[in-house]
Amino acid sequence: MNDFLGRGFIILTKAPRGTKDILPQAVGEWTYIEEKIRKMCAAYGFGEIITPVFEHTELFVRGVGDTSDVVQKEMYTFDDKGGRSITLRPEGTAPIVRAFLENSLFALPLPLKLFYIISCYRYEKPQAGRLREFHQFGIEAIGSDEPSLDAEAISLASAIFKALGIKNLSLIINSIGCPSCRGKYNAALTEFLAGRAGSLCMTCNERLLKNPMRVFDCKSPECQAALLGAPRLSDYICADCAAHFDKVREYLDSLKISYEVDEKIVRGLDYYTKTVFEFVSDDIGAQGTVCGGGRYDGLSEQLGSKKPFPGVGFAMGLERLLLLLHEQGAHLPGASAPDIFIANIGQGAAALSLSNALRKFNIAAEMDHGGRSLKAQMKLADKLGARFSLVLGDNEVLSGVAALKDMKTGEAADFKLDDIAPLSAAILKGKKTD
Ligand code: HAM
Repeated sequence: MNDFLGRGFIILTKAPRGTKDILPQAVGEWTYIEEKIRKMCAAYGFGEIITPVFEHTELFVRGVGDTSDVVQKEMYTFDDKGGRSITLRPEGTAPIVRAFLENSLFALPLPLKLFYIISCYRYEKPQAGRLREFHQFGIEAIGSDEPSLDAEAISLASAIFKALGIKNLSLIINSIGCPSCRGKYNAALTEFLAGRAGSLCMTCNERLLKNPMRVFDCKSPECQAALLGAPRLSDYICADCAAHFDKVREYLDSLKISYEVDEKIVRGLDYYTKTVFEFVSDDIGAQGTVCGGGRYDGLSEQLGSKKPFPGVGFAMGLERLLLLLHEQGAHLPGASAPDIFIANIGQGAAALSLSNALRKFNIAAEMDHGGRSLKAQMKLADKLGARFSLVLGDNEVLSGVAALKDMKTGEAADFKLDDIAPLSAAILKGKKTD
């Protein structure tokens, strides 16, 4: 690594593997996405919720499930100084259902519709679109098992993709039934796969004992080959679950949201029941699942509630969303540039107070804090992308008049410094015509 004089140096430590700094140049893109998300969530009646970054480990063990890869291999778990086992949240659904129960949010009109934009932590092998610290936007609608809610959740995800101009996303849906029909199916699948255990990988042999449907998630060609001719969940699904799934599809058809039913979609977290879905892209390599979600009708009881509060939700990975937007050449806002750069020659105090006066009008004003020459200040104004510049020297301060210069056209006009309104109006006008 070199410093700005080209001298080599070794930084004390780098950011941990699988984490990424979001630099000022990129923050504009994040805020742009978040604004679109917040606007759309408001239109769909979802209110924001913020929960802690860490939770008691048992929340995820019980909620996400001890047969999931997330709990078995990927959690950041440690004992705190009080000897309690703590885990950095690997996902948002279990914490939000916990908050729903703990804060008696069930007393509010149901379903309660919540959204969140959070960081998550999973100890996975980092690669493009897969990080150890990543960010999710997600929603949870809790307190109704109506299939219209599943369709509304899917249509919100779809509306957000549309608002961001994302193309070529496929929506894949499936129903994985309820514990009663899935129990029968699991027994049939286990019997089928037991005869092929020799061709399954080690992980799938474990899956066979604990959660055989997870074998569908395996990428190994041998395991996929072993699944050929396996019993189909749709042949085992009970009448209630089948009717629920039919309704979800009917609603999606009526909303003209196209989808494909894929029985191989089983999702990696244990709380799912009935509807599961994913939005997948071929444009960003192996980690193509941009959004995943589904119904979790038994989760509140898993977390201790006596009463069921069925729910449905999804989460999309913001890093994957950004990868996709870049891949598809979307126009994203860059770093924000100042509206005006106020250069000064020995008039630092005047430049400071003029900057502050303009900032009161919502104008982004910048000045030199590096003791630069006038020439270097103008170079800096250019580098920062300032729309206007204004020079304050002894003459300007004495006469009370300074020239506002448009950095693109070079046009300049004089303004009085003791009456800020016409000056700020001219700057704001320039801003609006951009
Ligand atoms: P998930 O499928 O585990 O579901 O994650 C949702 C999304 O988060 C993925 O589709 C992906 O875009 C992103 N994601 C997951 N892991 C990583 C990673 N290591 N690096 C970057 N992005 C990642 C859930 O988390 C559920 N809580 C979703 C849900 C909400 N289901 C119902 N409600």
